Amino acid sequence: MTRHFLRDDDLTPAEQAEVLALAARMKADRYGFKPLAGPRSVAVLFDKHSTRTRVSFTAGIAELGGNPLVLDAGSSQLGRGESIADTARVLERICAAIVWRTFGQERIEEMAGASSVPVVNALTDQFHPCQILADLQTIQEAKGKLAGVTLAYFGDGANNMAHSYLLGGATAGMHVRIAAPEGHLPDRGVWHRAEEIAKTTGGSVEVTTDARQAAAGADVLATDTWVSMGQAEVDQAVYVPYALTAELVALARQDVSVLHCLPAYRDKEIAASVLDGPHSLVWDEAENRLHAQKALLTWLLER
Ligand code: CP
Ligand code: NVA
Repeated sequence: MTRHFLRDDDLTPAEQAEVLALAARMKADRYGFKPLAGPRSVAVLFDKHSTRTRVSFTAGIAELGGNPLVLDAGSSQLGRGESIADTARVLERICAAIVWRTFGQERIEEMAGASSVPVVNALTDQFHPCQILADLQTIQEAKGKLAGVTLAYFGDGANNMAHSYLLGGATAGMHVRIAAPEGHLPDRGVWHRAEEIAKTTGGSVEVTTDARQAAAGADVLATDTWVSMGQAEVDQAVYVPYALTAELVALARQDVSVLHCLPAYRDKEIAASVLDGPHSLVWDEAENRLHAQKALLTWLLER
């Protein structure tokens, strides 16, 4: 059966660990894996802007010996109204996998439903699971483990990053804390699904409006933009108490690591001194997109 990666809990805990172990091996031997040699093509579609995702998938597919085909909404027929199902039917005839950054999760689910080749979520409004794989790889490198590590996320608790930290972190057996203002708390369904997963992995989930409480004793602090792509303008004042500042860093463990998926807005959701400071791992995190996605594609295609 074709496996897709549309949300973080599409991988079981054991499968997630397998992908992350492969990502570490691929990082250590960057050009040593050629499962797409032939070369097989992978379609990489963008309905939204991207720098890291575009570059890491393009470079990664090429490094695996494959041929990346990058299409933008503005230059493909999908962007002119060709149906998702018809697009899937064409791409599956030519490509080994389809990677897509789009808006609603239902769009990528429709693509997967019509595709006999793996479909990978390169960010939707609801989830950013490839980013979380890279984040988990980064945390594993810094802390030597994932299970039992406490990660606190601050800001928009209802966006793709918050939802993916909940599902991906719980899958890894982490203690995930989300600190967000009322009205911007995680989707109930995702929150409860994360709680269910955490029960089986020894992790936990905590959602709070108290940023200081979330930061206290945490191993990892993370944040994201207050206004996601495609989102209507919001009153950013509600997020100010959730800015990742030096004060929050001081409440966390002394060896705390700081993550941000980027792009970052300095002195908005994160203080410049924190983003550019000694606890920040954001450049490793960005690089790990490459390794984690190469591992994911290999895992999906080689099973
Ligand atoms: N973090 C991330 O997905 O970056 P891009 O939007 O640049 O791809
Ligand atoms: N939440 C952000 C993540 C960008 C990588 C967005 O969707 O714009």
